[in-house]
Parts: sequence; C-alpha cells; structure tokens
Amino acid sequence: KRKPTRFDLQKMKENQEKVVWLTAYDYPTAEFAEQSGAEMILVGDSLGMCVYGYDGTVPVTMDQCLMHCEAVRRAAPNTFIVGDMPFLSYQVSVEDAVLNAGRFYKEAAVDAIKLEGGKRVCPQIRAISDGGMLVIGHIGLTPQSSGQLGGFKAQGRTAETAMALIEDAYAIQEAGAFALLVEAVPPEVMKIITEGLDIPVYSIGAGIHADGQLMICSDVLGIFQAFTPKFVKKYAALGAEIRKAFEAYGEEVRAGQFPADEHTYKMVEGELPKLLD
Ligand code: KIV
Ligand code: NA
Repeated sequence: KRKPTRFDLQKMKENQEKVVWLTAYDYPTAEFAEQSGAEMILVGDSLGMCVYGYDGTVPVTMDQCLMHCEAVRRAAPNTFIVGDMPFLSYQVSVEDAVLNAGRFYKEAAVDAIKLEGGKRVCPQIRAISDGGMLVIGHIGLTPQSSGQLGGFKAQGRTAETAMALIEDAYAIQEAGAFALLVEAVPPEVMKIITEGLDIPVYSIGAGIHADGQLMICSDVLGIFQAFTPKFVKKYAALGAEIRKAFEAYGEEVRAGQFPADEHTYKMVEGELPKLLD
C-alpha cells in the first residue's frame, strides 16, 4: 500500500471510486485502520468526546491534537492523515491559523489539515494554502459552533439554508481547499455540492452522493456510549466485548484463578533462605 497524494484522491473522484475515511486517535486503532485499506485517517477533535470524555469539541487544545496526530502518524505511515484544527486555533486571526496549521505539519507530519466553517474562514483557508499546506473545508454540522446551531443538529434542510451551504462550498473551493467535508446534510443538497465542485467532497452523515465517506472509529466499533447520531452505523459491538473481557479477568482474580502457573516465572538459580519462625 502506497500513501495516496491529493492527486490520487482527485483521480478517485474523477473515476467515481469512493474514498474510505475513518477517524483514529491512537496507535493501535490507526494501525488497524491502515491494515484495513482505508485511504485516509482524520485525527478529529472528536477525540475530545471519544478519548477525553468532554461533552463537545470546544475544550480540545492544539497540544492534545498534536500528541494524537503523532501517535497516528507513527502507526499509519502509508495512510493520508488529516489533522483537525481545534477551537480557537484558527478563528482569531489568519496569522494564528497559518502558524497552527504549520505546527501540525512540523510536529506531527500530517498530510493535510481540516478546519470548520464556510465563507467566514476563507481568508484562513487561502493563507494556509498559500503557505504550502493542504486544507480540507468542513461545513454543515460544525461541532465547534454547535452552540450557535442550537446543538448537534442536521443542517441545510430548508431551500434557503441549503443555498447558503452550497455558496459556502464554492467559496471554500475558490479559497484553495483541495477537498471538502460536509456533515449532517440531506443527500439532495450533498448531490448538488459533490457534482458541482471540482474538488473531492466527502460525507459524514450526508448520504451516498459523495466522493467518499467518513465515520468516527468509536462509532464504527461500538465503543462510544454517550449517544448515537442518526447517521451512525455500528459495524461491531466492541464495547460489549471489552466489558466482557474486563469482567472475566475480574472474576478470575477474585476467585484466585488468575494468574495460573503458566503466567509465572520459574526460579533458575540459587536457593532462597528458609523463613524463620
Ligand atoms: O472531529 C471529527 O471527528 C470530525 C468529524 C465528526 C467530521 O470533524
Ligand atoms: Na472535528
């Protein structure tokens, strides 16, 4: 397996081959993702919820994102890895945005970064792209501004809001993003965006009319317990498996059955003194 380039991803759009994209936050998960043949990994700021147990992504810091990106990079050298810019790392100024995007490249060797927002972040997208980096836009449900959206809610469900999303999509392409992610939007809106844009358009919860799909690893594996969005399909129930394994271990420890003889080391030399009594 060779790491895809932006041009491979562009070619896949033109050939109508779907890109498989997963989040991963740690070394073992990223290793499994690479072995599965996925083209891309997102080290999402969803790590705030999936790894750190926050209610949302707002508290996530640059340092947290970078540490997880580093681990994922080591595990998946042949996968296209996207760093996710956390809240406040690009909103304040264009200068901040370029510096923080650059940290993902210098400190975690990512292949691209992703940031949330439409027209309002186009100056940042332009500047990061002019800095020689690859940018993925993200519109629709944007969790970092979920307070403004009134929660984790589907977007673009009226003609008017759908038109605004479509305008954002074109603006992001125009600003120099090489791909776009659309989250929680009806499929008919997604179809217009995917067919209209020249760059690859990926979906999370935006239906089948996309150049590829993204899913959160914790959802795919069935280990995220707080809630399940409508767009999630669980491909395994690993949570139940993990609990079973921990319970079985606990039972054997309490019953004095673990560790057994085969889990212990044999003395190889010398004689221990007898206990004095
Ligand atoms: O952080 C993340 O995993 C994301 C996806 C939910 C789109 O940005
Ligand atoms: Na994110």
